[in-house]
Amino acid sequence: MVTYTRHGKAFDSLDFIEIEERGQDIAKMIEERTGAGNDFLGWLDYASRLTERDIEDIAKTADYIRHNYDALAVVGIGGSYLGARAAIEAIKGFFPDDGFEIIYVGNTLSSTYTNQVINHLSRKKFAINVISKSGTTTEPAVAFRLLKELLIEKYGKEYARKAIFATTDRAKGALKSEAVKEGYKTFVIPDDVGGRFSVITPVGLLPIACAGIDIRAFIKGVRDGEKDYSDHDYKKNPAYNYAANRYLLHKQAKFSTEMFVSYEIQEKMIEEWLKQLFDESEGKDGKALLCASGVFTTDLHSMGQFIQDGSPVLFETIIKETQPILDVTVPSDVDNLDNLNYLAGRKLSYINDKAYIATLDAHTSSHSPANVIEIEKMDAYNLGNLFYFFFRATAYSAYLLGVNPFNQPGVEIYKSNMFKLLGKPGYENK
Ligand code: PA5
Repeated sequence: MVTYTRHGKAFDSLDFIEIEERGQDIAKMIEERTGAGNDFLGWLDYASRLTERDIEDIAKTADYIRHNYDALAVVGIGGSYLGARAAIEAIKGFFPDDGFEIIYVGNTLSSTYTNQVINHLSRKKFAINVISKSGTTTEPAVAFRLLKELLIEKYGKEYARKAIFATTDRAKGALKSEAVKEGYKTFVIPDDVGGRFSVITPVGLLPIACAGIDIRAFIKGVRDGEKDYSDHDYKKNPAYNYAANRYLLHKQAKFSTEMFVSYEIQEKMIEEWLKQLFDESEGKDGKALLCASGVFTTDLHSMGQFIQDGSPVLFETIIKETQPILDVTVPSDVDNLDNLNYLAGRKLSYINDKAYIATLDAHTSSHSPANVIEIEKMDAYNLGNLFYFFFRATAYSAYLLGVNPFNQPGVEIYKSNMFKLLGKPGYENK
């Protein structure tokens, strides 16, 4: 279970009367699935409903991929890739020593990036995990077509069929139809779990397992989260407590921005995942906090001045672990030309912790309060639990705000404009 604490004087003036009045009803509405978008609450107990057979199927497929290929191209965008990438980078880091490469593609329309990925993969023995719930999203569909061509060109159609793994809807969509026709191995994205909540389904589980991460420990973390964050009383539920505080910081203290912060650079994608989770769930009807992200101390050398001294618009939500995954020690140097001998023998994690304490004090003493969400270690179990903590917080926070957490009507407008410009059939007169 995560530990949630509040830092800074802005919290002292928050009045919780609204939470006392509405909080229990909102918690009940989530549990009993009676609120707006209630047909997308499958994530509430999805992990508990996963059978050993489902898990074994994913684990065995991942094992097969790891043993038969040098790389996996994960083709997906938004909720269909962010969670997996967040978990893989946070736990395995940027340079895992097992030699198996995971490459993300179909998350952009950049021709330069896509061209380079194709070039890079043309020198590898690679498999594809194409992930799309709708099966029609432009970015992954284009990337998938390109990578499939590459596989067919290099090895032939039969080989390509066996190297493609599709994660999509149970019954509908272009990807599902193609998978059935071509005989790809498929995994199902449940109807009642939306993209940004889908990291705990095969959307996240297959790539995470392919990275060599223990998905059973991850699922256990999620399952424990189902109990850890279920209390209806926000004072006894860290997820609802955090959600209530961020809501009040916005509504009463008038902060417009929540900055997710980590002190581990390989956790940056967790913040990207969080930005999607909250911004897409809450940014409706002219409402909501804007979620931003920062990696400290890196960004203290770019945004630090603004946070300390600029307009007082943001509060921080810091994800902090008490133990690093790996560590290094600063060596002693006889000449001490760099004057660093005062740190000789110190672990880098010790220095990072001191930076954290110093920064927390500096920012909260100024005008940026901070939520701190602490876990022991960034491993599969704790990350599964942390993801679930944020699922609960998002649902509660969006209902407090009075919006449906599970739809995203606003993202369709640019697509419709783009399809018209591109001449997609059916969009000519829109
Ligand atoms: O959370 C969401 O719903 C979105 O981010 C989707 O996951 C994203 O747009 C990709 O959609 P799809 O999985 O249908 O390709």
